Formats: sequence, structure tokens, C-alpha cells
Amino acid sequence: MKVLIVGGGGREHAIANSVAKSDKVDKIYCAPGNAGIGQIATLVPIGPMEFEKIVDFAKTEKIDLVIVGMDDPLVGGLVDELEKEGIRTFGPRKNAAIIEGSKAFAKDLMKKYNIPTCGYEKFTDATSALEFLKTSKYPTVLKADGLALGKGVLICNSFEEAKAGVEEIMVDKKFGASGNTMVVEEFITGREVSVLSFVDGKTIKTMTSAQDHKRAGDGDTGLNTGGMGTFSPSPFYTKEVEDFCNKYVYQATVDAMKSEGREFKGIIFFGLMLTADGPKVLEYNARFGDPEAQVVLPRMKNDLIEVIEACIDGNLDKIDLQFEDNAAVCVVLASKGYPVKYEKGIPITGFEEFDKHEGYYCFHAGTVERDGQILTNGGRVLGITAKGDTLKEARANAYKATEWIHFENKYMRNDIGKAIEEA
Ligand code: GLY
Repeated sequence: MKVLIVGGGGREHAIANSVAKSDKVDKIYCAPGNAGIGQIATLVPIGPMEFEKIVDFAKTEKIDLVIVGMDDPLVGGLVDELEKEGIRTFGPRKNAAIIEGSKAFAKDLMKKYNIPTCGYEKFTDATSALEFLKTSKYPTVLKADGLALGKGVLICNSFEEAKAGVEEIMVDKKFGASGNTMVVEEFITGREVSVLSFVDGKTIKTMTSAQDHKRAGDGDTGLNTGGMGTFSPSPFYTKEVEDFCNKYVYQATVDAMKSEGREFKGIIFFGLMLTADGPKVLEYNARFGDPEAQVVLPRMKNDLIEVIEACIDGNLDKIDLQFEDNAAVCVVLASKGYPVKYEKGIPITGFEEFDKHEGYYCFHAGTVERDGQILTNGGRVLGITAKGDTLKEARANAYKATEWIHFENKYMRNDIGKAIEEA
């Protein structure tokens, strides 16, 4: 089987790594990929939003399966374009990817189907938003409706801050058309847990849990990033939480999408918050999390291609999804200055250590190969993942492995998974 993966970050490297293990797969392509993915796949210089080129490539190369890893092409309808040409594709169609593409849609869906989430209002004009915010309780949360590279969420402590936020989102359109609609959400607190799941339109199978660390600095300080590290499983995702979500969240979401005529096939990522009033859905994503995929997929026992095919064919109920009874931690190595300003093109060394150690992974995010040398090519450069019998052991292993890699201006958080020690 020939597989094409669309995307080029750590998540797509983790997907490619799992795909490469499948006996069903003869050849992997990745558009556009990165230096690490290039070691197990043929890189195709096509951007994820170049739909026509992707479809042409898939037809010309007779690709048997396309896996769309990223949010933008999913929300933009790449799956629909590929399917129109009869190309087998894994990921939700445009009308289902809206679960991630529109926060207002997701909130309305949860409200209509009684899926636990926090209170909200939505606005399409700044004047009404400001009127509402004058009498709001603070802090409050403003969210640009559409995709905004994970940046369109503002926590405001006062009306003055909220006013500035409305200006940014709805008037100055800092996040582009994403700000045409804005959601104002109740501010809730608690431990965050990410639960990824496979969905075939009617059946849902959840994967092992994980927890992301979104802020740039230790102790959850600094700016929001794409994710600075993650661990799996989350000790806070107890049997009680899981039972609650099985009853009120997971199947309820899949059924809701079906009832709306938006059958969801692919990955639903549930961003949960464990509040004093019980678990609530903070957000949905329509794809694997990044870096969550980098700790969840290495622990999955099943052949990823078999599970993906079951999702496409509507046979997911036949799959016994299994994960190793261990733990994994991923520490992101970033370029100093991320997420604001950072250099690119810096040589990276030390990769060879990973070939010598079982249970250690060096997933590439922002890297490129030039003249046989691997260089930094983004803010998040590598995801260093290690397994261990326990989270504590996995954490120690991951941090040990971060020392194998060298590049100038290497930056990482030192407290990924520290919450484990407090659990
Ligand atoms: N790690 C969060 C995300 O993938 O959106």
C-alpha cells in the first residue's frame, strides 16, 4: 500500500513512524514533511493547502490512502476534494471538521446535546459584544471563532482588557476572518486532559490520555505556544472521569454530529478540563494533538493502518484498541525566542544516540536537511519522547535524551510532567 501523509510537524512524524511499522505499507510519502520524516518517507514539496496539487499527486502516484494530519486542510475541505476523485482518505470532511473550525459551532452543538461545557455567548458585532462584556464576571475568555494557529484565545481580567481584546479580534482582525464571530466564555479552572479518539461515524474508541503544556516557560508562565511537552497517561484521568465522559461526552458528541448530518470519521481530540463541578469540554479538535500524538502513538499496540481503515470502512467496533501498560513523556526542544522571534538554519547534532536506545524517539517538528546536514527550521524543532515503566521513569528518560541533542539556542521547559510528582 502507498500512503501519503499531509503535514510536516512532530505529529506527522509520529504518524509516519507508526505507519512505517505496518506490514500493509510499502511506501510512504509526506507533503511537505520535514528532515526526520524524510528518513522514512519520500518528501513531496507540496504545501498542505495546495489541494489541487495534492489531489493530482495522489492520482498520478496511485496513492492508496491519504492521512490528513493538520487542522487547516481538514477545515478547508481537503478530504472532500480527495474523495471526489475516489481517493481513500482518513480525516473528517469539511462539514464535520467544523467541530474544530468554528468554536461557535462546537459550543452550540454541546449546548443543544447537553454535553458538559462552560457557559458562553457568541457575537458577530463588536458593539453587542462590548455591551455584554460591561456586565460580565471577570476573568472571562474571548475566543476568535475560527482557526487562529492556537492564538485566538484571550483571558481578560477586567472590562478594559476585554475591550482591548474585542478590538484585536473583531475590529483589527488580528486573527483574520477567524474574528468575524467571537465567543465569550465563562472562565473555568482545573486540570486539563487531552483525550484523542478514533471515530468511524458511529463508533468511538478513545485512546490513552495525555496532558499538554502550552505555555512557553516553566511553571506555566510566558506566552502560549503550540505545546512545549506532554505526558501520557494522565494520572488525573481517573476511572471515574473516564466513566463520566463515556456517559456524557464521547458517544454523545459522535451521535450529535450524526444527528446534525455531519457524520464524523477521523480523530476527535477532546480538550477536557476537570473542574470542581466535574469534567467539561473546553474544545474539540478534528485531528491528533501535537505534541500529544508523540506520546500516545508510540504506546499504541495496534497497527495504525488497520485502525484507520476500520474508521473509513465503518468497522471500528471490530477493533480492540490497546495501549502498552507504561508511560511516555515528550519534551519539546525549541529555538530560543519561540514563540515570538527565533533563528532558523542552525545545525543540529546527536541524532545517532536514538538508534542505540530502544523506547526513545526523536520526532522532528521544525527541521530541514541541506547538503546532508540537519538544520533548525522552526520554533518547535524536535520532540524528544521516551517511554518508561512509570511516568516518573519516562520523565527521567526523556530529559536524559534531551542531552543527546545539540544545537545553538536550544530551549526547553524543565518541568514537563512535573505534575506527576504532585499527583
Ligand atoms: N496540543 C494541542 C493541540 O494539538 O491543539
